[in-house]
Amino acid sequence: MSSFPIRPLTDSPPIRAALSELLVETVAGGGSVSFMHPLPLPIAEAFWQDSLASAGRGERIVLGAFDGDALIGTVTLLLNLPPNQPHRAEIAKMMTRLTHRHRGVATALLRAAERLAAERGRTLLVLDTAVDEGASGLYEKLGFQLTGIIPDYALKPHGGLTGTMIYWKRLAAPAAA
Ligand SMILES: CC(C)(COP(=O)(O)OP(=O)(O)OC[C@H]1O[C@@H](n2cnc3c(N)ncnc32)[C@H](O)[C@@H]1OP(=O)(O)O)[C@@H](O)C(=O)NCCC(=O)NCCS
Repeated sequence: MSSFPIRPLTDSPPIRAALSELLVETVAGGGSVSFMHPLPLPIAEAFWQDSLASAGRGERIVLGAFDGDALIGTVTLLLNLPPNQPHRAEIAKMMTRLTHRHRGVATALLRAAERLAAERGRTLLVLDTAVDEGASGLYEKLGFQLTGIIPDYALKPHGGLTGTMIYWKRLAAPAAA
């Protein structure tokens, strides 16, 4: 069980800087999170500025895990889906700092995202992860089901194509208080 507190993030210069550092580090390390290496810091900052603005409008929740004051992991719960999918949410931008991997941070962030999704009446979660250097083991441990693989879906951060694995998980509605 992770002992790192988790909370939804709102935009502030230090939070944006910490998220940007984490994104640049993750991409440099080969993590498939939409960007190519080398990722310039201003591009990372622009991404998080947009993402946190979207969170401010209630379209998504950007969660952060903390070790003291240091942001050591993040995951995003996307909530603004089309009108015919009000029961669904998506998981994106799952990242843990290299210094804090294999200590349950991602597991705790995903569990928190699941809880928040269920509280908002979402009963289906969907995500995708790269075949090469993705995190399929993490999602399968948490009960996500593999639907299939799309070959040659995206470029890896250092070049070369990789497929993507599409996962889903049903969520139980939270018990009434
Ligand atoms: C994937 C990632 C977020 C996992 O973070 P973490 O905090 O180390 O994860 P946890 O400690 O909660 O892992 C729990 C278990 O999930 C599994 N797991 C974690 N990362 C995994 C990976 N990359 N591949 C396969 N299984 C993985 C392992 O079984 C792990 O247990 P272990 O540490 O005892 O081996 C982290 O490796 C990362 O930031 N990777 C780069 C970005 C990325 O690929 N994100 C996913 C995009 S979809």
